[in-house]
Amino acid sequence: MATGWQASNLTDDEVADGESYHRALYLDGDVERPAGWHRDSISHLIDLAMPHIQQGSLVVDYGAGTGGSAIELLKRTDAAGISIELVLVDPLVSWFSKARELLDHREDAHFEFSMYIDVNGKMAFHRLEEMLNGRLADVIISSSTLHLVPTKALQDLGVQFAESLAPEGVFVWDSGDVESDLLPATASLLHDPYRAVREHLKGDSVRKSLLAEMEEEEAQKAERRADRIFPRPFSLEVIIDAFNSAGFSSRVTDRVVGFSNDDAKRFILVPRLSEIAAPLIEGEERDKAVSAAIVAVLSEMREAGTASEQEYRSHWVYGYHTITDSS
Ligand SMILES: C[S@@+](CC[C@H](N)C(=O)[O-])C[C@H]1O[C@@H](n2cnc3c(N)ncnc32)[C@H](O)[C@@H]1O
Repeated sequence: MATGWQASNLTDDEVADGESYHRALYLDGDVERPAGWHRDSISHLIDLAMPHIQQGSLVVDYGAGTGGSAIELLKRTDAAGISIELVLVDPLVSWFSKARELLDHREDAHFEFSMYIDVNGKMAFHRLEEMLNGRLADVIISSSTLHLVPTKALQDLGVQFAESLAPEGVFVWDSGDVESDLLPATASLLHDPYRAVREHLKGDSVRKSLLAEMEEEEAQKAERRADRIFPRPFSLEVIIDAFNSAGFSSRVTDRVVGFSNDDAKRFILVPRLSEIAAPLIEGEERDKAVSAAIVAVLSEMREAGTASEQEYRSHWVYGYHTITDSS
């Protein structure tokens, strides 16, 4: 059985939120049937990590979410007959509890919940060194997470990772939502379609009238919250600079990954993500507005040359970092 953090008293909404994101990664929630984009995007990340993973390695999955990256990594290590110790780290109860449920049967999985409320009542994150309790990891992976970390926190995260890795250790990450010169004209960033859905929904008449009924300040706050769900992407250099200044040497590779129309619809209908349509309330009306908008956006992408009839082409970057030898 897995060890570490376990959720208690989950609400129905939290359970549904974790289940829904899990189903955006795995068809019908079956871990043997990953969505094509999830399988194809994570496979290169695991290719980069595997040469550094040996029998008994300590591996960290930073931003483990519902367990999608950990599950794919464990498939590979199991197939290679390598047993590892995997520490999963995440700050979101609803998604992380789904990961715990999915991996509960594994002796090799340990869960660390990273968020806490500090003495000033503010949200804060436990440091990785602290969560590893002095142990050093051989590999840290972070899939689809770094673009969510505020840029001002990236360098310190780099320091935490450098302090948490064994001398020969590596840190590898991927993201489909980072701007770079590597982006081909025929592809888009992973979240571009969903940012476009948000723009479409700004003109939705029901949504507009609900906003008009709210206090001005409250309405603005709701809009800002919805804009933060798919924040404007920052550039690859920001991440590389942050990790280099924390003492890493860096290499970057990229891939284009097809994201099917059905998967795109499933993805944006995850309740936490379709909050971009707020204040439309979760339910049929909101789902209808979001579904119509994603159909329109995918059609615009076909015209722009970043999508085919079946899928849009998402661009992923992969960072591979080793600790620079300062001696
Ligand atoms: C898109 S999910 C990726 C989950 C998983 N790695 C996968 O590949 O399926 C991103 C995760 O990052 C976590 N996250 C968001 N902001 C974060 C932050 N500032 N620091 C650490 N983790 C964060 C979220 O809770 C979420 O579970």
